[in-house]
Amino acid sequence: MAFSLPPLPYSTTALAANGMCQETLELHHGKHHNAYVTALNGLIEAKGLAGKSLEAICTEAGKAGADGLPVLNQAGQHYNHMLFWQVMQPGGGGDKLPGALAAKIDSDLGGLAAFKEAFKQAGVTQFGSGWAWLIIGADGKLKVTKTPNGANPISTGEGKPILGVDVWEHAYYLDFRNVRPNYLDNFLNKLVNWEVVADLIGKGGLASGQSA
Ligand SMILES: [Fe+2]
Repeated sequence: MAFSLPPLPYSTTALAANGMCQETLELHHGKHHNAYVTALNGLIEAKGLAGKSLEAICTEAGKAGADGLPVLNQAGQHYNHMLFWQVMQPGGGGDKLPGALAAKIDSDLGGLAAFKEAFKQAGVTQFGSGWAWLIIGADGKLKVTKTPNGANPISTGEGKPILGVDVWEHAYYLDFRNVRPNYLDNFLNKLVNWEVVADLIGKGGLASGQSA
């Protein structure tokens, strides 16, 4: 067994009108994400990962601290990008959310506007590379958080991510140059697939279905 790069759920031209051009998707999915998968597969035997789920690998690597980083960098990034592709769609974003998701954001995070601002600030304030997240915390409530580099809320033990945005420069530099806040505004208002996010609440987060 080995990990594999899932195809995008849309074409590489599908998001161009919504702020993510064909070249960004070709490089980000076909080169960056693919490189994480290839590197992770190269670690399977040496690190004793055979047969383990991607989520278990992220959890164990996170608990191992600095010793786990070589595995977490690749396993985390594989998981993170799989979620990222799933939570976008052409013509997404905006303020029309499925009712159950909107109600939970209202009760747990003080409303959609407050959530969007918190999520954007998490992405803006993640120094250097990393991710901003909407997660289901251990108490079952939604929470906004951020992680550096290839880490994620599974590896930190914070909870199960249902929405994530990549704030590595490779995610936005072709489309937004150095202006990360505009990339985050665009993500929230033109790209997020709220139906998938709502569905992931019901499922308790993304199950990658992949094992080493
Ligand atoms: Fe990325």
